Formats: sequence, structure tokens, C-alpha cells
Amino acid sequence: MSHDAQLDAIKSGYTFEGATVNLGVALSNGEPQPDVHVSLPLAMMNRHGLIAGATGTGKTKTLQVLAEQLSANGVPVFMADVKGDLSGIAAPGESNDKLVARTSALGQTWQGTSYPAEFFTLGGEGTGVPIRATIESFGPILLSRVMDLNSTQESAL
Ligand SMILES: Nc1ncnc2c1ncn2[C@@H]1O[C@H](COP(=O)(O)OP(=O)(O)O)[C@@H](O)[C@H]1O
Ligand SMILES: [Mg+2]
Repeated sequence: MSHDAQLDAIKSGYTFEGATVNLGVALSNGEPQPDVHVSLPLAMMNRHGLIAGATGTGKTKTLQVLAEQLSANGVPVFMADVKGDLSGIAAPGESNDKLVARTSALGQTWQGTSYPAEFFTLGGEGTGVPIRATIESFGPILLSRVMDLNSTQESAL
């Protein structure tokens, strides 16, 4: 398949009717192609997905981009943010020359935007709203794991 045919295949394969979440554009010989968008239908975002890649390939950025656009579309997003990579969604980003150069190469008009965020905390640590669960809501399987029960103890529970 020729290079142009590959770009055409990406273009048609990632173009959908109705609302979409836009992940970015295709790269060709290292250059972003502003007219070859990579999008996912908003209506498909309740399915399962996996963002995989080596360190530094853009997994966290992809998650941020997904969460921002879901939020902008009124879809609440729950994110487990163990490393604090995602809490910045609550404050508008600051522009810089590098960012403007990159986003205009992608055909985007960048604007720093904050999204409504609420923070939860486990075990009452930190400043968020503490999340608590009743023992009943754990159910026997999860409770067995937490208590490190063997199979005999688990079946008794
Ligand atoms: N689409 C992209 N275009 C340009 N730079 C990107 C893109 N996605 C990620 N980056 C940059 O690459 C670096 C690593 O991205 P990150 O999402 O933190 O990777 P990962 O979570 O996979 O380790 C960051 O500095 C980020 O700004
Ligand atoms: Mg990461």
C-alpha cells in the first residue's frame, strides 16, 4: 500500500458521524498531517479500552486528552491518579512557544482550559473527600482477598 493510500485508510477509518473524541492526527515521516484526524465516536466511549506503550510514548497524555474531552461533553470521568499525573485537569494550562508550534502543526487552536474536578482520597489521607465502604458492600470475594483467606476460610465466609 502506498504512503498516500495508508493516510487515506487512516483518514476514512477514523472518521465517524456524530460527536467524536479527537486523539490527534497521523504522523507521516515524522510530520503531523493536520487533515488526517484520529478520532473515536463519543458513543463508543462506554466500551473497554487499553492505552499501551513504552514509557514516554504518550499514554498519560492520551488519558488527559480523553478525560478533557469527555468532561467537555458532560461525561463524568473517574480516574485513579496514583502518581498525580492527572490532577492538573483542574487548572488551565499555560501556553509556551513550543506548545503553540506543536499544536498549530496539528491544525489545532490551543487554549488553556480547566475542567471541573473533585478529589477523593483513600483512608482519610490528604485533602480530598474520603472514600469509605461498608464491610457488607465488599462482598465475600473481595473481603476474602483483603483478609488473605485460604480457600477453606473463603468458602466458610
Ligand atoms: N501527541 C503528542 N505530541 C507531542 N508530544 C507528546 C504527545 N504525547 C505525549 N507527548 C509528550 O511526550 C512526553 C511523554 O508523554 P506521557 O504521556 O507522559 O508518556 P507516558 O505516560 O506514556 O510515559 C511528554 O512530555 C508529553 O508532553
Ligand atoms: Mg505516564
